[in-house]
Amino acid sequence: MSEPDYTEVVRLEGVQMHYGNVRALSDIDFAVGRNEIVGLIGDNGAGKSTLIKIMTGVERPTAGNLYIRDRKVDWETYSVGRAHELRFETVYQEKSLGEKQPLWRNFFVGRQITNRLGFIKVKEQKRIANEVLLNEIGFRGVGIDADSPVSQLSGGERQGVAIGRAMHFDADLIVLDEPTVALAIKEVRKVLDFVRHIKTSGRACVYIEHNLAHVHELADRLVVLDRGRIVREIKRGEMSLADLTAALIDLQHGRDGAGEGRP
Ligand SMILES: Nc1ncnc2c1ncn2[C@@H]1O[C@H](COP(=O)(O)OP(=O)(O)O)[C@@H](O)[C@H]1O
Ligand SMILES: [Mg+2]
Repeated sequence: MSEPDYTEVVRLEGVQMHYGNVRALSDIDFAVGRNEIVGLIGDNGAGKSTLIKIMTGVERPTAGNLYIRDRKVDWETYSVGRAHELRFETVYQEKSLGEKQPLWRNFFVGRQITNRLGFIKVKEQKRIANEVLLNEIGFRGVGIDADSPVSQLSGGERQGVAIGRAMHFDADLIVLDEPTVALAIKEVRKVLDFVRHIKTSGRACVYIEHNLAHVHELADRLVVLDRGRIVREIKRGEMSLADLTAALIDLQHGRDGAGEGRP
């Protein structure tokens, strides 16, 4: 494969996001390099999900610019569909799969395989969905297959399907918003393996994760968000897990602040 002719997969520049009086994001400059795994960390409400929703076309910011592969993107034409076309795949925190659909339909939503007459190739889609479920995600012997309705899946299984989609459609940037939160230990290991696979296959990833040990191990760079601002960036190897944990606890204490009359 030839070298891609860009240096950054995505860049947010001067991004502000207000929801009424809530300042969810302030002055965000955030970029992801080619084949870089960026861990995004910070407390609940820090703005992590908002940042990735802006990056992936779910939300439009109050102000700021977006560049994809070094080219400026017009917010007017940016959307989740456009992000897919640009090979961004996102596993959102909220359950985002259509509840009533069978799994195979959900898998191919917006990207149906059709024959020359435009008819959907149902058999082929089911076959591929089953293959990915079994081989890539490892839904072995749990009684779930391509015909199962999405409403039957656990939180972890939904994450698995979304990750399977990301793998299958050969995304170039994969965004994971707390993918392991609802998972059993065995499933967590699969997600971690998946993130490693993103790296070795030459792709980029933004990985939001509450488990510091996991991001510390996997990320090339950690970006710390606090109350809507980027307060720190840490390169791989720059800080031990223990020091990172201590630094984040300090950050929280600093925020609770002495003299505010709180216990
Ligand atoms: N749609 C929305 N409407 C109003 N406030 C929102 C909305 N989405 C997020 N927020 C607020 O923005 C802040 C950041 O939220 P979020 O990005 O979900 O944080 P995180 O993912 O880091 O936990 C929070 O204060 C949250 O309540
Ligand atoms: Mg979140």
